[in-house]
Amino acid sequence: MGLAVSNLTYLMARGCAFLGSEYAIMAGAMSWISERHLVSAMSNAGGFGVIACGAMTPDLLDAEIAATKALTTKPFGVNLITMHPALMELIAVCGKHHVSRIVLAGGLPPAGSIDAVKATGAKLIAFAPALVMGKKLIRDRVDALVIEGSEAGGHIGPVSTSVLAQEILPELATQVPVFVAGGIGRGETIAAYLRMGAAGVQIGTRLVCAHECIAHPNFKRAFLKANARDAVASVQIDPRLPVIPVRALKNAGTEGFTAKQVEVAAMLDRGNVDMPAAQLEIEHYWAGALRRAVIEGDVEHGSLMAGQSVGMVKTEEPLADILATLVREADAALA
Ligand SMILES: Cc1cc2nc3c(=O)[nH]c(=O)nc-3n(C[C@H](O)[C@H](O)[C@H](O)COP(=O)(O)O)c2cc1C
Repeated sequence: MGLAVSNLTYLMARGCAFLGSEYAIMAGAMSWISERHLVSAMSNAGGFGVIACGAMTPDLLDAEIAATKALTTKPFGVNLITMHPALMELIAVCGKHHVSRIVLAGGLPPAGSIDAVKATGAKLIAFAPALVMGKKLIRDRVDALVIEGSEAGGHIGPVSTSVLAQEILPELATQVPVFVAGGIGRGETIAAYLRMGAAGVQIGTRLVCAHECIAHPNFKRAFLKANARDAVASVQIDPRLPVIPVRALKNAGTEGFTAKQVEVAAMLDRGNVDMPAAQLEIEHYWAGALRRAVIEGDVEHGSLMAGQSVGMVKTEEPLADILATLVREADAALA
């Protein structure tokens, strides 16, 4: 390579400048998993770690950010779920810690939240589930976009990563940095999205079996055993309840979600809850089920959120090794 800048370095330059990292690879926030250890390991390895706030209270987020700062001097981000009832307080906690990049996930940012994030001085990253939404978010002064396809683990949209990338990158990638997520298990795919104009990528599933990840050994074992086809999307049973599908490994908990939907639909029928409360009820269910599997190791009844790239997770290894492999593969593909 000598003095020449490699193609990979060249194609990642914009994403790296935006994230303040060595590689334009974000560790997508994963509730219960993306805490101080995984986040600091990702940022220390040259990627960009993101804390998953999930259902944390402002006090817990405050402590998690402080603890992460103690483990890394590199930049990292915080992912906030837009439907969190304390969203504005959570943004203020990020501001207090001068968190430099904030990701708003789980729906379009509600009124006032964009201004609040901007007022902290942080750069704002949001998810664009379709081209029109991406355009709107850019008009609303979002600084970067993540486009995440249905191959991903956790909450998913209906469209595959490859189609989103073709629809959105040619239109928006010159306006703001766009990071592609969902189904990325190897560096060759990172190279392909960079060639199409992506500023970088976001990965989740591929990082779960990192040594530094605190997920329960049972959770990691389930990932190591699983194939792509085991990571299935949840089914919506009541058309009135607009539940966001979740991709997870099949287990007894998959049926538990059907029962939960019946229960929440009955609450709606009785007028015990309105629609936003019903949706929050569903989200609390997922947070609890994911905790049960990730923290307690109950891989039968808990939720094993995982993307289709789970079949490419073969061993438990240091996070820096996973990142080095992806970078080596991407570099070779572009050489
Ligand atoms: C176990 C798990 C939990 C997740 N939790 C969240 C979350 O709390 N917030 C969020 O924005 N995305 C969440 N995601 C999505 C990831 O941030 C990331 O975008 C996704 O994993 C990328 O797709 P991949 O799994 O195919 O790499 C989660 C994914 C997994 C696998």
